[in-house]
Amino acid sequence: MPDGMIPNVLSIAGVDPSGGAGLLADLKTFSALRAYGTGVVAALTAQNTRVVTGVQPVPVAFIAQQLDTLFADVRIDAVKLGMLGDAEVVATVAAALRRHGVRRLVVDPVMISKSGHPLLSPDAVAALRREILPLAEIITPNLPEAEVLLGCAPIRTLADMRVAARSLLQLGPRIVLLKGGHLEGAESTDVIDDGARQIELPAARIVTKNTHGTGCTLSAAIAALLPQHADPIDAIRAAKAYLTAAIAASGELTVGSGHGPVHHFHNFWPPARS
Ligand SMILES: Nc1ncnc2c1ncn2[C@@H]1O[C@H](COP(=O)(O)OP(=O)(O)OP(=O)(O)O)[C@@H](O)[C@H]1O
Ligand SMILES: [Mg+2]
Repeated sequence: MPDGMIPNVLSIAGVDPSGGAGLLADLKTFSALRAYGTGVVAALTAQNTRVVTGVQPVPVAFIAQQLDTLFADVRIDAVKLGMLGDAEVVATVAAALRRHGVRRLVVDPVMISKSGHPLLSPDAVAALRREILPLAEIITPNLPEAEVLLGCAPIRTLADMRVAARSLLQLGPRIVLLKGGHLEGAESTDVIDDGARQIELPAARIVTKNTHGTGCTLSAAIAALLPQHADPIDAIRAAKAYLTAAIAASGELTVGSGHGPVHHFHNFWPPARS
């Protein structure tokens, strides 16, 4: 992509009607980070900031049709994968990614909602590991997802995270971003491993309930920024800085009584008057 061109970025994910996570949050993130957003719906959910009350799959033939129709016309510079739901969807999406030669792929291996609802069936985990992770440039598991993907003991410390990040590379992605949001402590540190080096991304833990969609927002931000940075590590750092600022500004929004969304447009909107 020539320097300065606006990238076209695709999210393949579920729809969260509350707009804090999933495809809607991804499109807000792309827009805030100077990327043109496109989206393919992989699953429907009924949810708010407190609870997921239902999940409705999208017929796999129609997921393939959405992807093939889009790729037939639009140049896609990076793809972000979010909630896929079941093994059939995983296989369908993997086949489409191969068919269209997608190289810049960010995989957020979504398994459980922040409110605790399962979003990926157990047989789909095996399909994800086998068919999707080897295609990925970057994977962004949280700690419980890393434990499931590796079949390992609970990851409790930064030292455990470093070992787990290195093991996750064996599953095929070029870069692992292991997220530390689920560790306790004053910092929420993520670990990057690109095979050559490990980099810690520390961030002060912000005291807030508004962490709905933090993972979706981070992976979408990486996809938006990858085509705009020569070095993927720089894209990850910039994405993390964007997310941290979006969490810090989340108190300006008043959306629901559970885990509220982050403020995707904190850089654009004047602060709310008190
Ligand atoms: N309270 C917080 N303050 C600052 N950063 C946070 C906080 N909570 C999470 N993060 C950061 O947000 C990102 C997402 O991390 P987390 O481990 O929560 O992902 P996740 O569980 O996949 O999120 P989601 O439930 O939205 O899918 C990470 O970069 C993490 O460090
Ligand atoms: Mg997540």
